[in-house]
Amino acid sequence: MTGQNPTSAAQIDTTRPHPARMYDWYLGGKDNYPVDEEMGRQMLTLDPRVPVMARVNRAFMHRATRWLAQNGVRQFLDVGTGIPTEPNLHQVAQGIAPDARVVYCDNDPIVLAHAAALLRGTDEGATEYLQADVRDPDAVLEGAKKVLDLTRPVALSLVALLHFVSDEDGAHDLVRRLLAALPSGSYLVVTHATADFTPEESKAATDKLRAAGVTLALRSREEFTRFFDGLDLVEPGIEVPHRWHPELGEPVPGQDDGVIPGYGAVARKP
Ligand SMILES: C[S@@+](CC[C@H](N)C(=O)[O-])C[C@H]1O[C@@H](n2cnc3c(N)ncnc32)[C@H](O)[C@@H]1O
Repeated sequence: MTGQNPTSAAQIDTTRPHPARMYDWYLGGKDNYPVDEEMGRQMLTLDPRVPVMARVNRAFMHRATRWLAQNGVRQFLDVGTGIPTEPNLHQVAQGIAPDARVVYCDNDPIVLAHAAALLRGTDEGATEYLQADVRDPDAVLEGAKKVLDLTRPVALSLVALLHFVSDEDGAHDLVRRLLAALPSGSYLVVTHATADFTPEESKAATDKLRAAGVTLALRSREEFTRFFDGLDLVEPGIEVPHRWHPELGEPVPGQDDGVIPGYGAVARKP
């Protein structure tokens, strides 16, 4: 593992909710604290479908990774990895291409504490975990270089990450800087929450999270589309996540066609 030193319990802030741990709670995991569950329950009062949304998002990551591995991608840089939940990205990629090399990256010490599960890959491939913040793209790329060959195509996945990065922190610019370091034939994979479909609930959720110290920067379809400037979108283009190549996975229990106030897309760097 690269980046900061292994975490200690003292580094994990249990006084305020954290996105990684709330997401773990939505997914039915055990690596969360009462403060995360409390905020998660408040989100459910605004929209009881949140746990289904979390699973639909995770299922999009599985299908996008499957599509990429089937289309020849052998290197993956996954930023905003989250607490391990099987199957993890490397298990999907290496299930198709055992020689796939995967670098995971997150800024939350709880993910570092559980990173061992992200490092059990195939003998032919490689997995690495890096603790770094996406708002520091140079640190992410420096760490990634230790395992990935950045002269060869890389799939950069930013799945359910960018809505935690504000415009003030330069969300669009940091994506541009990460992609600038990757060669032609690389891919960008993004899912992102939006207020486009449920403006009132979304505003209430954003306000509650902000009061608890969590940034939620919901973006419109137009703002989401700008992450892909200069790239070639893979068919079917920008979609709500469950409609992106549904044939590559199983439907999520509880999913219906209306559930996801978010967008997902995959695009290739020409
Ligand atoms: C909702 S989880 C998504 C996990 C996984 N990508 C998925 O979609 O299943 C968002 C993750 O982004 C991480 N994150 C938030 N802000 C970040 C930042 N500035 N740099 C790196 N990771 C960040 C959180 O710690 C959390 O693990």
